[in-house]
Amino acid sequence: MREHLIKKGYKKEDIINDGNTFLLANGLLGYRGTLEEYQKEELVSLNVVGLYDQYKDKWRESINLPNPFFIKCFVNDDEISNLNKEPLNHELDLDLTHATLKRHTVFKELEISSIKFVSHHNINLLMLKYKIKAKEDINNLRIRYGTDLDIYEINGPHFINKNIEESNDVLFFKGISNEGKEIHLTSNYLVKTNKEYKKTYSNGVYELSLSLKKDEEVEIIVSSSYEDDNHNYSFDEELKNHQNIFNKKYNDAHVEIVGDERADLAMRFSIYQLLSAGDEKNCNGIPARGCSGQTYKGAIFWDSEIFLVPFFELTNKVVARNSLVYRIKTLNGAKSKAKEFNYKGAFYAWESQDSGLEACSKYNVTDPKTNEPIRTYFNEKQIHISADIVYAFDKYVELTKDYQILKEGGLDVVAECAIFFKSYAKKIGDRYHLLDVIGPDEYHERVDDNAFTNYMAHHAAKVAIKYISDESINPNHKYYDYLDELNDFYNNIYLPIPNNGVIEQFNNYFSLEDVSLKELRTRITDPKEYWGGENGIASKTQIIKQADVCALMMLLDDQFDEKTKKANFDYYYPKTEHGSSLSSGAYARLASRIGKINEAYEMFIKSAEIDIVGSNKLFAGGIYIGGTHIASSGGAYLSLVYGFLGLNIKDGKITLSPSLPSNFKEITCNITVLDKKYQIKATKNNYEIKERH
Ligand code: IFM
Repeated sequence: MREHLIKKGYKKEDIINDGNTFLLANGLLGYRGTLEEYQKEELVSLNVVGLYDQYKDKWRESINLPNPFFIKCFVNDDEISNLNKEPLNHELDLDLTHATLKRHTVFKELEISSIKFVSHHNINLLMLKYKIKAKEDINNLRIRYGTDLDIYEINGPHFINKNIEESNDVLFFKGISNEGKEIHLTSNYLVKTNKEYKKTYSNGVYELSLSLKKDEEVEIIVSSSYEDDNHNYSFDEELKNHQNIFNKKYNDAHVEIVGDERADLAMRFSIYQLLSAGDEKNCNGIPARGCSGQTYKGAIFWDSEIFLVPFFELTNKVVARNSLVYRIKTLNGAKSKAKEFNYKGAFYAWESQDSGLEACSKYNVTDPKTNEPIRTYFNEKQIHISADIVYAFDKYVELTKDYQILKEGGLDVVAECAIFFKSYAKKIGDRYHLLDVIGPDEYHERVDDNAFTNYMAHHAAKVAIKYISDESINPNHKYYDYLDELNDFYNNIYLPIPNNGVIEQFNNYFSLEDVSLKELRTRITDPKEYWGGENGIASKTQIIKQADVCALMMLLDDQFDEKTKKANFDYYYPKTEHGSSLSSGAYARLASRIGKINEAYEMFIKSAEIDIVGSNKLFAGGIYIGGTHIASSGGAYLSLVYGFLGLNIKDGKITLSPSLPSNFKEITCNITVLDKKYQIKATKNNYEIKERH
């Protein structure tokens, strides 16, 4: 069992992926796994979740703060850093159970060791301890350290004004964003050494000059706080507090896979990434790329409801609740969006930020050859988002019995979403149709009656009718006036049924070219080209981006029998490019339930390892889409518990029906159900469920 992710050796071409893999985060702040000498070219970023800004007419995105952990060494004016020298040894060590990142790098002249964390105890705080030890006598060592004001940004600059003041080794950064927000970062720099040194300061950066004899050391300790001007933090105390809290979260989500070390490590890593993305204090939502930066504008997608909330429901109910409260907070934005398009109810943003207004632009990808923007209709047509949110509310309430959330606005979310679908639908004959939509497979835009969307909207109407009619949840009979029309919609929406066992993904999908993935790949003319949109190579074919009908069968599991699930898996799986990282988790979960264990295992590993091996899909068209893929981590976790373990929870009663890959000897898993902690354990033929104290 490995509880550390260790990487030995150094390759410059891994800089971007390492930044994702070794990310430190606490749901509010995310610090990419970069080295202290890195700067904006290496995509250093301290990202704030929930804090957004727009520069001119560029995309509105989350803000990166200046880097408070910048440190670079020089010996006789020669830069001693990974960017400038080949290290003799280099190691990164991410402690998955305590959320700290250690670095150890050896050069001929000196060695560097550092440890840092983004606190789970004080979520506004991040700390670094950095040590240089001389390997030979060094007469002229210079160390530059401080707050790097040259910020890495995708659609910036986000600060119209950056001001930094120095007083007694503390740097007070105050920035004003384009939207007029005043943002503060206060960083304390403590130098520890027995040696005499000279120190100068200029514009956020200190410079220390000193001499070291062989084996002598100098240490710099940095504490940096966002929106908190306390700067007297003890490193050891804060480290201990942080580790205790993170470790408790980790234990509550703990999984062990006996018999397959690779899967075990990948699962632990996924859990680490998921826990790092969850915020117990704020309801800012969890962005698609977690806290890893500005990709996808720092926005919240359906990823949250389908792949993240279900993880937190079993492991940290507070975070699950906060993520749903975020949708309550942004309901007005969703209602405005519906109005803008002349619908009723709540049409949630495909890419949602602080207000809930749509952040997804009309031109979401570019053509890498011409650099021309490509029109995509994600913002207007991916209506399934509103149904996904209802689905998540319902599952959460069913599992946690937290009816209070419905009284605190959840009922409004659910009802308004259902009202939206009814107003979007077109009645043709005696059936309601959802025309001109995009399903999870984004390569096919503006299609009619996408099966995923229709079934999920049908489900949303059912959930809304259930809660609206429940006197204990809705004593004031709110939305009663809508019950007739919602019932009509629920009873009469067109739900495509299997044709030779297979549900057609949307109207006329079967008439598209039935080409193999291999053949389609020969038509690529640029490795970064976008496969969807009007002229994409997949658009006129049956090749799909990600699980769509199969995602539906994973979610509305009990509406389809095993034979239908198998037929659809067999049909769609080979046609899926997995161009979205959400795909593998969905297929893994479905496959494990229908006895396709080899495929399930393959998809599970792909999903769980995505940010260890690094993404090969860093661009959609010409646009950078890298970062951590936490929905994929969530997909891996859910395919383990609901897939391999066959977890079922009904009114607090837990049962399992294990179906383990051949090399898994045993899975142990900690979950919490109705505030009781359990350890569940399964082998191929047996399982036990114990309360945990
Ligand atoms: O939500 C997904 C979408 O399904 C595919 N493109 C990326 C988004 C964010 O992960």
